[in-house]
Amino acid sequence: MSTLLALPPVPQVDVSPPRPVKPRLPDSLFSQRLLALGSENAFRIGPQIRELELQGHQIVKCNLGEPDFPLARHIADEVKRQIDADLTHYCDPQGILPLREAIARTVSARRGIAVTPDRVVVFPGGKPPIGLAQQAYCNPGDEVIYPSPGFPIYESFTAFVGARPVPLHLREEADFSFTGAELEPLITDRTRLIYLNFPSNPTGGVATREQLQEIADVITRGAPPNARIYSDEIYEDILFDGHRHVSIASLPGLAERTIIVSGVSKSFAWTGGRVGWAVFPTAEEAAAFKNLNINYFSCVPAYNQMGAAVALESPQSAIEMARMRAAFTERRDFMVAGLNAIPGIACRKPGGAFYLFPNIAGMAANLGAIDAHEKLPAALRERTSPATLVQMFLLWRHHVATMDRRSFGRIGCEGMHYLRLSIATGLADLQLGLERIRACAADRDGFRSFIREGAHLC
Ligand SMILES: Cc1ncc(COP(=O)(O)O)c(C=O)c1O
Repeated sequence: MSTLLALPPVPQVDVSPPRPVKPRLPDSLFSQRLLALGSENAFRIGPQIRELELQGHQIVKCNLGEPDFPLARHIADEVKRQIDADLTHYCDPQGILPLREAIARTVSARRGIAVTPDRVVVFPGGKPPIGLAQQAYCNPGDEVIYPSPGFPIYESFTAFVGARPVPLHLREEADFSFTGAELEPLITDRTRLIYLNFPSNPTGGVATREQLQEIADVITRGAPPNARIYSDEIYEDILFDGHRHVSIASLPGLAERTIIVSGVSKSFAWTGGRVGWAVFPTAEEAAAFKNLNINYFSCVPAYNQMGAAVALESPQSAIEMARMRAAFTERRDFMVAGLNAIPGIACRKPGGAFYLFPNIAGMAANLGAIDAHEKLPAALRERTSPATLVQMFLLWRHHVATMDRRSFGRIGCEGMHYLRLSIATGLADLQLGLERIRACAADRDGFRSFIREGAHLC
């Protein structure tokens, strides 16, 4: 026995399948520009949800930025008709004329301004012109003002083009809108773009004509003549409580310096159609963006553009939109009341879009998320936040997917404890989600063990 023990150990033979070797990329492979580019977390959370679903969990998806309604029949029929008619080839990189004409008519009528089709450019969605505008108007060192919390792409592109990001922090007490006085000190000689987004993602904030007039006055007075207002109006049709959409471009003298952007993704529940557009102050600027389109993607599928033209001008669209708005209103009212009944959560009623942006400071404190965040190792602490810890706990242990405050502008977001909940999911799911959030808010022990386990903290 003792001789056996004295034998040298038998070498272990690894019988597991060989692990794929991850080649280490050379540090110099990617440009500084690419390394600096941010992202949109909404697309990052999908694989985590799939992982949980594969484990057999049913996830309530309050993370989605797309209406949960099917594409309306009259639009789908037009797209099919155009495919059958073989409208499936390259087309005008600026956008096909029938759609640009429809956009010009719609934008002119709704905003009380005169838009001609030569100032319109069609893009694959409302997102591409955000980054293209920074590439077109900004040199390194120029400044870009954008709302924070706001759509993350406004901030993520600034580092890519070497521009200086200037976040305009929106205050909850002001219903996530802002005043001219708050904007004024941020404007300098280097300001080249000022992003506005009403109704807003992620807060649902809207602006009145009076507020916009004040903002417009500040820009007219203080911004350099070569600064452009980028008015992201992609949620223009999703308004509640009798709010009517007002574009800053409608105010006297402002159309001359405003880029108006919208698209089919939200108004017509058609995120997969990839049709968005911008109306530029001049035909020369539209031509420059047409050239960017030629360089990047040539053109947007013509059959979808024809569908978008029908979406914009068919009377049937108004009926579909009214139905969608009614569903969002019912869900919003249900969720706002339900969230406000949970200790530690305070949620304002948004005037538009389909997001709620509750303040969860109390919930984060009750759970111990603020303390837990402070105690994390510095490198990890920087990549997360108390609201992120709550978001992750809610997802991994209570199976509700939401987005954290950090996902909507990182710069200066420390100490801001919010989540974004999308109501673009059915009422039955939202009811279940609310019950789970209530249980989550009271689950201190679960939170402690989640932090101890440490697997999903950012
Ligand atoms: C404020 C805002 N702008 C632009 C977009 C991009 O829209 P699209 O899907 O048409 O590219 C979104 C999408 O969520 C958004 O919320």
